[in-house]
Amino acid sequence: MGIDVGTTGAKALLTDADGAVKATATTEYPMSTPQPLWAEQQPTDWWTATVSSIDRILKQSGVTPDRIAGVGLTGQMHGLVLLDAQGDVLRPCIMWNDQRTGEQCAEITRRVGAERLLQLTGNPVLPGFTASKILWVSQHEPHVYKEVAKVLLPKDYVRYRLTGEFFGDVSDASGTSLFNVGRRRWSREMLQALDIPHSWLPEVTESPEVSAQLSTSAAGETGLLDGTPVVGGAGDQAAQAVGTGIVTEGLLSVTLGTSGVVFAASDNYRVEPNGKLHAFCHALPDTWHLMGVMLSAGGSFRWYRDTLGDAELAEAERSKRDAYQILTEEAARVPPGCEGLLFLPYLSGERTPHADPNARAAFVGLTLRHDKAHMTRAVLEGVSYGLRDSLELMRDLGLSIEQVRASGGGARSSLWRQILADVFETELATVEVTEGAAYGAALLAGVGVGLHPTVIHACETAVKASGRVEPGPAASTYADFYPRYRSLYPALAPEFQAMADLISSHAESEDTE
Ligand code: XUL
Repeated sequence: MGIDVGTTGAKALLTDADGAVKATATTEYPMSTPQPLWAEQQPTDWWTATVSSIDRILKQSGVTPDRIAGVGLTGQMHGLVLLDAQGDVLRPCIMWNDQRTGEQCAEITRRVGAERLLQLTGNPVLPGFTASKILWVSQHEPHVYKEVAKVLLPKDYVRYRLTGEFFGDVSDASGTSLFNVGRRRWSREMLQALDIPHSWLPEVTESPEVSAQLSTSAAGETGLLDGTPVVGGAGDQAAQAVGTGIVTEGLLSVTLGTSGVVFAASDNYRVEPNGKLHAFCHALPDTWHLMGVMLSAGGSFRWYRDTLGDAELAEAERSKRDAYQILTEEAARVPPGCEGLLFLPYLSGERTPHADPNARAAFVGLTLRHDKAHMTRAVLEGVSYGLRDSLELMRDLGLSIEQVRASGGGARSSLWRQILADVFETELATVEVTEGAAYGAALLAGVGVGLHPTVIHACETAVKASGRVEPGPAASTYADFYPRYRSLYPALAPEFQAMADLISSHAESEDTE
């Protein structure tokens, strides 16, 4: 069984020993935004939702609890859960997408030094990551801070409720800024720099290792059996990668959701010298992963459909078809390279490769010749170029790229898949199982309880790649246009900054009028 403590709900998923999915259920919970840029959730809501989802999959499948060999946990990464000495939650979880800790990140970087931070943790300190949130609580809520006895990540809180034990895993711990990612253990130096007692942190295991067993009281609440093993599990990105078989070097995944995530398995610990890629432990022993995150991937196409796709939306309504499909059919009639039209996909700023909240989107190169179909295709191509930026950073680190596996809504378009294969100049495949991180967590549980000897074996048995697309003749056109795309951000960045300053000075003067 896999459990994903996600951003919008807790999903439980049951597979058989070969990895065939037997039942899934998701129970949603709310997120609160007490102030702009804040994002919080109640850990107790995760637990209630988990119990309900487990109950539903047991009922749906008719499987008796004695048949559940083990539980694998995954979930949203980076969130800060604080418990007191009695194991009670001290305040709502400060989530991965909370942006309140800019000042604390700067302070940690000053204390430790940017270079040393990269050496120790593989990453710069980002507001989403956990350490800056601990510092924020110490500075803004000292009455809470003095009660802290344990610091947990979201899925590890659910583990605590399932087993009564405090454990984490190496992949999720990698996103805390407190973990020595190269050595796969908590960093004493980071803990000292932030005055965080080692005893606050849980012991970490490798992802497929059994961490603890279900307690009698959790058995009563969930309907599972007392003593059912619970494996370490993994952060949602690493677990999702296990679920799509991205477990050996050479394999990469591209997930085209609202954001676009490029994920690569790496046999060695590699760090991008400027910290532009996330470097985390993977969910297999002695393996790491690199990750680039584009903020508006499928989100760019959705914005385009909603803003400029009225005709296609109306046509979709009339013909009972999908507006995206109608748009991509039109785009397919335009030659690759869009006759010199480029789209920069920075609609919500960017994270990789340009960590710049002020970056903005743009169409560049419009002429009288260009029509809407050109603009549609330019959006698909621009997002693909932006994803290639992450691939290039990985290639620069010596990573070989044999196959990219695409998933997410955008990967349903055959035109977009072909554009991706052409822009990346690599084979692209799709994977059949689309159950995401919970599926990877279930496979990890299978390994932990001995149904499979290794994670690689579990993936070979359960994950099938299909629908291979090879780079075609358009690849050479894209190879010509890609450097032009790459030169646009550095050329425009000073203007993006100037525009952001202008907008905020206008907003201030409106406030004072
Ligand atoms: C990973 C990340 C997200 C969250 C929520 O670095 O920020 O994947 O884990 O899904």
